[in-house]
Formats: sequence, structure tokens, C-alpha cells
Amino acid sequence: MHSRRYFLKALSLGTATVALASCGGGKNKGGSSISGENTVPPTGGSAANSAKELIIPNLVDTRNTTTDLWIGRQQFDFGLGTMTPTFAYNTADTNLGLLGPTLLMEKGATSTINYINNMDEVTTAHQHGLHVDGPNDGGPQSSIRPGESRVNVLEIDQQAGFHWYHPHPHGRTAPQVISGLAGLIIIQDPAEIARLPNLPREYGVNDIPLVIQDKTFNSNGTIAYDANKMYGKRGYLGDNILVNGKTSATVTTPSGWVRLRVLNGSNARFYERDDSLSLTNNKQFYVIASDGGLLEKPVTTTSLPLGPGERYEIMVQLSADESIDLFAGPRSIMTIAAKNNTFDNSASMLPAILAPAANLSTANVARRRSFELKENMTINNKQMNMMVIDEAVTLGDVEQWRVFGKGAKHTFHVHGCSFKVISRAGGAPEPWETGWKDTVIVSGKREVEFLVQFNKRADRAAPYMYHCHMLEHEDMGMMGQFTVI
Ligand code: C2O
Ligand code: CU
Ligand code: CU
Repeated sequence: MHSRRYFLKALSLGTATVALASCGGGKNKGGSSISGENTVPPTGGSAANSAKELIIPNLVDTRNTTTDLWIGRQQFDFGLGTMTPTFAYNTADTNLGLLGPTLLMEKGATSTINYINNMDEVTTAHQHGLHVDGPNDGGPQSSIRPGESRVNVLEIDQQAGFHWYHPHPHGRTAPQVISGLAGLIIIQDPAEIARLPNLPREYGVNDIPLVIQDKTFNSNGTIAYDANKMYGKRGYLGDNILVNGKTSATVTTPSGWVRLRVLNGSNARFYERDDSLSLTNNKQFYVIASDGGLLEKPVTTTSLPLGPGERYEIMVQLSADESIDLFAGPRSIMTIAAKNNTFDNSASMLPAILAPAANLSTANVARRRSFELKENMTINNKQMNMMVIDEAVTLGDVEQWRVFGKGAKHTFHVHGCSFKVISRAGGAPEPWETGWKDTVIVSGKREVEFLVQFNKRADRAAPYMYHCHMLEHEDMGMMGQFTVI
């Protein structure tokens, strides 16, 4: 286990417990939160960030228990020679100083998350990608005021997948996320593990979570972000591209198959076209999952676009002592270094069929809606108004949504669902976006149509959102509210 601080052995299980072996972390205690304890944040900062080793956020088992997450002021060592003030999510015994622990959830289990706001401003806690009802979705209506807490009860009945949690307060999402507030969620499914026992699932070992974000720093080490600035159509673009909080970090893996779970957690930066993700020497890799879980079949490619809020899981095969870089366009953003090892390198690690194809039938479309994204930060000529419900959807109906705009690119995200893209720019969607998605790149020439069905309720008091996931656009009002009843 050499020097890896956060380490989980045996995520590859369909059985009861997850063994957390770590010197830095520790098993989440769960249990109920006792008010009074809530006001005491975990102390410290990122003590042992060895220079260039990729940070793997601690994995916290949240299955069928209550997990307290403190949201508060922290500090983090970005390697600038000084500590940077940040915000982060922490449990009682995990504290990275940035981002938050990775929450392990399971299909068929319930995760109860108690978010405790120790900041001096209002926040909310949204689980992006999870199919949970409005009251537990953490949208802008579900405010957590300073000193208060809020419990989201997450009954997981969707397939295995890779998601994330982040703040969603009205008009203040971008500054809170850029300050460090974002964490990962992994849903596992015992049936999937039984069906595909060989997929890499050892968290932090051959199953590596990667949060790509960009930040600019001031000379005093603070994060350069001006919440009053508009940042224009392109949104905030930071000078440094960080993976799990570090530039040019290295992760050491076994040789053989490695799974990378990649989130674009940037406020507004797209890694696409000339900035798409790729590997050294255009080495081939295989996309195995999109936002909502496994694709039907692996998609072989040498480059992959990733817009704000999107996730893909990819697999790459490394020989002993092979070291490759992950690129965003021309820039290397991190290194994956495989050590000689007895790890399984067989073809069975990459199954030909991963999952049933994502499917919703156009024959059953009950209703069509269209959403026009405009350069004045409106959707269908409206800006987000907390008092207005923009659309009303019927529970269980299959709907066909068309999202289009004439101008710059955006990403369009919908809460409470995974959807099935059926066309892009009037033709077939990209092969990696044929599975379940909840966030898609949209631009003038690339309008998107998808089928969607909502199976959870969201009423007027706690509606769902659709919005551009460029956070500056979202904060400027490029968002709408809808009910599912
Ligand atoms: Cu990732 Cu409405 O959010
Ligand atoms: Cu979301
Ligand atoms: Cu936008």
C-alpha cells in the first residue's frame, strides 16, 4: 500500500462491509447527528499533501447510515508556498481542505446526508445525477442558512454510476464551487458487480476519481474570483488546470486495466474540440460509462470532449512501467504511472457488453418541449425567478426535449433524471453520449434532442431545475424550475 494516504481495499464487493484501510482516513462513523456537536468543525488543513502525488479523496461509506458533512472554511496547499483559504466538505474524521470525501452509495440502500453549514453565507447541497425527489434534491429552494443543517435522504434506486454533490444557492453557486465546494458520489450495484466482476473497482488503486477544475490564483495565494464580475459569455476561465486540487500530479497504479472516473467540475471551462481529453501519443482508451452509468458497449476513442458538469468513465490498459499523461488539448494535466505488478491484464477486464442499452421509446412520447438558450442568459426568454415554475411535468411520462440556441456553447443539465440523447445537430449523437446522460453540450450548430422520464416527485415547494451548467451563466439566470407531479 506504499504511501497512498487515502486507500480503500475491496470496493469490489457485493457483500456487506467495506473495509477502509488508511492511515489518513478512517471509517465513517455515521450515526445520528447531535445538535451542539454540529457547530464544531473538524480542524486542520491538508497536512500531508506530498508534492506531486495525486490526492484521492477519502471514500466514506454512507450506505444505510447518516453521515454528517460540515461545510466550512478551510485551507489548502496548492503548492504556492502559502496556504490558500478555501471552503470544503468534511466529515468528523476526513478533512482534505478542498472538495469533499467521496460518498459511497449503493442501489437499494439509503444514504442520509446531514449537511451542516458552518459558512457565514447561505448554501444548498445538491446531488447532481441522483434521481431523488425534490425535497431531497438540494436545489435553490432548499436553503441551509449559516449555522443550520439540512438532511437529504437519498434512496438509491438507479444503476451504478459516478455523480457529484455541490452547492446550488440562488445566484451564488459559482463563487462557492470555485472556493472548493464539490465532492464525488459513487453508486455501486451488487447486481452489476456480480455481472461484471472484473471491472476495476478498487477505489484509489485501479479505479481513480478525477475532478478537473481550473483556477487562477492571486499573488498572495488566494483564489482569484470576483463574484461581481460577469466573466462574459465564456464564463470563468482559470489559468491552472487542477486534477483533484493539484496541477501536474501523478497517480501510481498497477499495470493492466485502470479505470478513470472523470468529472468536469470546472465553473465554465470546456475540455472539447482543440481542448478535448487525450492521452500521450494519442493512446487509445475506452469510454465505458457516461453521466448516468455504464454504456451498452465500450466506445474506443483517442479523444473525448467534456463540458462543465459532464462525467465519463474511461478504461486504459497500461503495461508495466508505462507512464502516460492525460492531456486537455495541448496541456498535460496529470500523469498515470503504472508499476510492474501482477495485476490482471486479460481481455475479460473490458467486457464487450457492459449493460442493457439506454432505452426510452419515441412511440410513447406524451409531450414535447423545447428550450432555447440565448446569449442574454435566458432560457425561453426567461431568467430564473424563484417565484415562477416554468414547466410542469407529469410523473412517469416519456417526454421529448429539444435544446437549442444560436450562439456560444453551453451545457444543459436537468435534475432528477437521466435522459437518452436521440439526436445531435439533426444526426446521430456522439457514440459516448448514447447512454444515460444528465448534462450535454449544446451550441448553435449542435442542438440536442433527448427523451426523458421522471420517476420521482418535485412539487412547487421543492421543484427541480434545468439550467446551463456553466456556473456563471447559471448564476446570471440561465435556469428554469419545473415540477413533477
Ligand atoms: Cu450540478 Cu443543478 O446542478
Ligand atoms: Cu444537478
Ligand atoms: Cu451557458
